[in-house]
Amino acid sequence: MTDQIHRLDKENIPKHICIIMDGNGRWATSRMMPRSFGHKKGMERVVEIVESCRKLGIKHLSLYAFSTENWKRPKAEVNALMGLLVSYIRAQLNRLIDHGVRVRIMGDITPLPELPRAEVLRAMEETQHLSDMTLNIGINYGGRDEILHATRELVHRAERGELKASDLTREMLEDLLYTSHGPDPDLLIRPGGEQRISNFMIYQIAYSELYFTDVLWPDFDEAQLIKAIDSYQNRNRRFGGV
Ligand code: FPP
Repeated sequence: MTDQIHRLDKENIPKHICIIMDGNGRWATSRMMPRSFGHKKGMERVVEIVESCRKLGIKHLSLYAFSTENWKRPKAEVNALMGLLVSYIRAQLNRLIDHGVRVRIMGDITPLPELPRAEVLRAMEETQHLSDMTLNIGINYGGRDEILHATRELVHRAERGELKASDLTREMLEDLLYTSHGPDPDLLIRPGGEQRISNFMIYQIAYSELYFTDVLWPDFDEAQLIKAIDSYQNRNRRFGGV
């Protein structure tokens, strides 16, 4: 662990960090390499950052790996991303289990090809008893779709006569989101130079602190993570109060 960690206030470590892992393609093209090479480097960063978060005591980490819009990418790139997901699970699952990390998926995995779907299900099953840390991976995830699915379920309940509009609470909606088991993110990190949310956890980040950096995801190392947390610790969170 780098020396910079000592700068951090141990009493104010975010409980939940979410990351939009952006910049893999540009990282690779600037090196005259195929975009999939950037994704491979990006996957290596995932391994490192999960480990750093675990050591820092961050209990929930949510990563945006594949959005509902990413299907529009060339087939070869989609296949490469699916292949990396499989490699990640095969290479890391035992380690995640040893460290008590529960893997949860955000998103509808039904349209995934058979192999990645099976591996993702295996990762969820084999870690479901663990609770030291939660790793949420967004796959075929979109915040608008997530809210739509939750709303559809509430309407079904109303149609069955189980729910009246006047009885509807925020908690009922939140219970139907993929993140119902954990706290909202304290900090959203987006490397890669863009300053937008791209449909990631749009409901849950209502009061999250946002951190943008030009560093591309394949270069986002532990020192960068500590810098982001340091920035978070210097914010004054008021949650609408004074
Ligand atoms: C965005 O960069 C990144 C992605 C769409 C994929 C992220 C996937 C990984 C880091 C690897 C697999 C993940 C796991 C959890 C095993 P971009 O391609 O949009 O980059 P660009 O903006 O430079 O083109």
